[in-house]
Amino acid sequence: MSDVPLARALSSPEGKRRYVRTLFATIADRYDFITVALSGGLDRRWKRRVVRLANARATDRVLDLATGTGDIAHLLGRRSAAVFGLDLTFRMIELARTKRAGRGSPFFLVGDMMTLPFESASFDIVTTGYGLRNVPDLSVTLAEIYRVLDADGQLLSLDFNRPSNALVRGVYLSYLAVVGGALGWLLHGDPDTYRYIPASLRGYPGAAGVVRLLETAGFRTAASYPVLGGLMAIHHARK
Ligand SMILES: C[S@@+](CC[C@H](N)C(=O)[O-])C[C@H]1O[C@@H](n2cnc3c(N)ncnc32)[C@H](O)[C@@H]1O
Repeated sequence: MSDVPLARALSSPEGKRRYVRTLFATIADRYDFITVALSGGLDRRWKRRVVRLANARATDRVLDLATGTGDIAHLLGRRSAAVFGLDLTFRMIELARTKRAGRGSPFFLVGDMMTLPFESASFDIVTTGYGLRNVPDLSVTLAEIYRVLDADGQLLSLDFNRPSNALVRGVYLSYLAVVGGALGWLLHGDPDTYRYIPASLRGYPGAAGVVRLLETAGFRTAASYPVLGGLMAIHHARK
């Protein structure tokens, strides 16, 4: 992976798709450890907040996109009977399936959130943790999410933010590059592995930009809530 300079690999939709697919297959088995390490253990708390905001009922049909090892899907499975978790990376789906199930066991499948294998209006709730930043085309993805949501359905998304203040942004991206580079080198012998996070943020519209895209996609309401002083964000939108 380090043969291809990161910025060049991410410069086209097809390049980003290829890079992301290889990256997450590489890190899947260490993903849970890395998430705890990079968030200082806070990730679990943020995911619970997403699930609280979703306020799922037992009868709600729920889809967790970019489900990874299935944290959010498993939390939602404690509340709703019909929970699906979808991810591009086969190994992530394998790991998600091995986690202990809650009351209702989510159904996990491999798929691309830019072309969802579901009929229109199939879900009451769509969630995603660190998903939107990874897709090659965010507008196409939001249109797909809008399509599969039923009337009055809601989207909840947790992700890194791209701070609007240039100084804060510079320090934040540098911090992520240094810590990510060190972790990538230590765990995979490749500093680019976790430098992907700041690299992906460079082309990301940030919390306010995502709200605008959600409105453009047709969502009736769209709001973002700052997490960790605005370094991260949760989006909540309703169809
Ligand atoms: C940072 S992980 C997040 C995992 C999990 N949601 C969490 O919060 O811990 C990002 C996940 O997005 C998945 N992914 C990337 N592009 C995707 C796409 N186009 N469609 C579906 N999943 C995708 C990756 O395979 C990876 O598992």
